[in-house]
Amino acid sequence: MRDLFERIIENKGPLGKWASQAEGYFVFPKLEGHISNRMKFNGKDVITWSINDYLGLANHPEVLKVDAEAAAEHGAAYPMGARMMSGHTDLHDQLQDELAEFVDKQAAYLLNFGYQGMVSAIDALVTKDDIIVYDVDSHACIIDGVRLHMGKRFTYQHNDMESLEKNLERATKMAEQTGGGILVISEGVFGMRGEQGRLKEIVALKGKYNFRLLVDDAHGFGTLGKTGAGTGEEQGVQDQIDVYFATFAKSMAGIGAFLAGDKEVIDYLKYNLRSQMFAKSLPMIYVKGALKRLDMLRTMPELKEKLWENVNALQNGLKERGFNIGTTQSCVTPVYLNGSIPEAMALVKDLRENYGIFCSIVVYPVIPKGLILLRMIPTATHDLEDINLTLEAFSAIRDRLENGTYKRLSAAVEAAMGDK
Ligand SMILES: Cc1ncc(COP(=O)(O)O)c(C=O)c1O
Repeated sequence: MRDLFERIIENKGPLGKWASQAEGYFVFPKLEGHISNRMKFNGKDVITWSINDYLGLANHPEVLKVDAEAAAEHGAAYPMGARMMSGHTDLHDQLQDELAEFVDKQAAYLLNFGYQGMVSAIDALVTKDDIIVYDVDSHACIIDGVRLHMGKRFTYQHNDMESLEKNLERATKMAEQTGGGILVISEGVFGMRGEQGRLKEIVALKGKYNFRLLVDDAHGFGTLGKTGAGTGEEQGVQDQIDVYFATFAKSMAGIGAFLAGDKEVIDYLKYNLRSQMFAKSLPMIYVKGALKRLDMLRTMPELKEKLWENVNALQNGLKERGFNIGTTQSCVTPVYLNGSIPEAMALVKDLRENYGIFCSIVVYPVIPKGLILLRMIPTATHDLEDINLTLEAFSAIRDRLENGTYKRLSAAVEAAMGDK
């Protein structure tokens, strides 16, 4: 037998093993200043393309005022205790009602965090007799929720309706034996590549198979649909989504999340959602803050218009310059380049230090070996100058990638990584 910590100390995990080369720069970077299109990184001004503040609400003066007033009145704690025990207020109810109305559902229930809430929602919605069928590219919160499931689960190939159907057939046969039901889970917008979940085609399968649909619309809420109610509204199938989920951590620029659906389902979740039954209620600062942000989502369509002006300018500019931005159908803007991990590190360093551009970098094993994904999130706070400077910088770094500059620069990194 060995000491539990021996393994932990020897093997820091798939990401942790890069800590000495990456920490403070590629991972755990410290962006400073007010959340906006321009912030400071390592003391230098950078254009930020990695912040999910889609509508630019994080630093909006009206939002800051409401947040400050709520903090002054309630502190950070009120109300104390879980919703069920002592942490419930009229404003929690009001926020739920307004969210439900906004996403066109009968009722909604608040969650303290999106990740934990989704894990708990999946846990509450199924029993061991039920079968889960979910997209293989799902966010970690869905994967981890499915991990709690005691029954069968199947993945379908990403956004592949043939594969979904095959798995629905298998799930149906199994459910007939267990006496359970089927839960299908998709994202509204897949956050890495920006594709929308094929919700319209998924719900069309309800004519043939008996299942309920749960949609994680973290990136669609506030950005898609005529009113900003998300991917279901965008595709005209909001009424066919049985349980709708969104977080406040993106368009709403806050903390918290919610589930919405038929009243009977939400009433059930209220009494069975362990992440809310056994955890302190969402503090009033975030409740009042979310009411304000939701009001702005509803009454200031110009924020979403400005966001999309920027999304279109950036995505069109990249395409005109011959960049591969994949199959995005949302604000999420991926740029795919060919290169190794050390080349990617040298390229991102060049972008940050010499061009003042800060965007996230994604490499193997999240995407296939040999690909570099620069993931960009345009927001309503960006302007044309940001976009033009970024397009010029991207053209320059692509030239340097293709002429081998980063290969040479990265040789030292590669040597250091040697046996990793
Ligand atoms: C698709 C998706 N689901 C869930 C979450 C988790 O939300 P939260 O940050 O509120 O925990 C995120 C955010 O990272 C997300 O992108």
